[in-house]
Amino acid sequence: MDANLRWLLSFYRTSEIGGALFFGQLSKVLRPGPLQQDMTRHFADEAQHARYWTDCLAALGAEPLRLQQTYQDNYLAAAGTPVNLMEILAITLVFEKRVFAQYAHHYRSPALPEPVRETLAKIIADERWHIRWVGRALASMEAEYGRDTVADTLARFRRADEEVYRAAIREHGERLTALLIGVMKR
Ligand SMILES: [Fe+2]
Ligand SMILES: [Fe+2]
Repeated sequence: MDANLRWLLSFYRTSEIGGALFFGQLSKVLRPGPLQQDMTRHFADEAQHARYWTDCLAALGAEPLRLQQTYQDNYLAAAGTPVNLMEILAITLVFEKRVFAQYAHHYRSPALPEPVRETLAKIIADERWHIRWVGRALASMEAEYGRDTVADTLARFRRADEEVYRAAIREHGERLTALLIGVMKR
């Protein structure tokens, strides 16, 4: 298969594993309750997504590549480690929106191989729910943390998101534009 596509699908896969582990760790320390239940479903989804990408690569006759650094690592480096649950949900919301936009762009790109199209369609449906539940949970924290603080936190993480995204384009732009014209641009 195309080397750039193999790299991109491996990148997605690594990122999904990173997401599953991040939310898995959180689910372990959260008190049982609605938030922990949603978080558990969330990390189960992300683990499934990693598996879907593995299957998709196999359907295209390729093994996943081993990639060292995940998008999440870069995120935490740029944004700083979140210090409370509200901040965790805020960074998650920004991140999930980025993932959703990337997958949705990719889905619209021309000449999509069928296994990639099917995998993206399945994952996008789950990612919609991720944005919904995290947005709801974050809104419910406005009473405790203050609406302005939540809004400021979101703004801070959005700036970090832009920074990480631009860095990713600088680093990987060439192989991506070769593969998905316009997909990584906004
Ligand atoms: Fe995912
Ligand atoms: Fe997600």
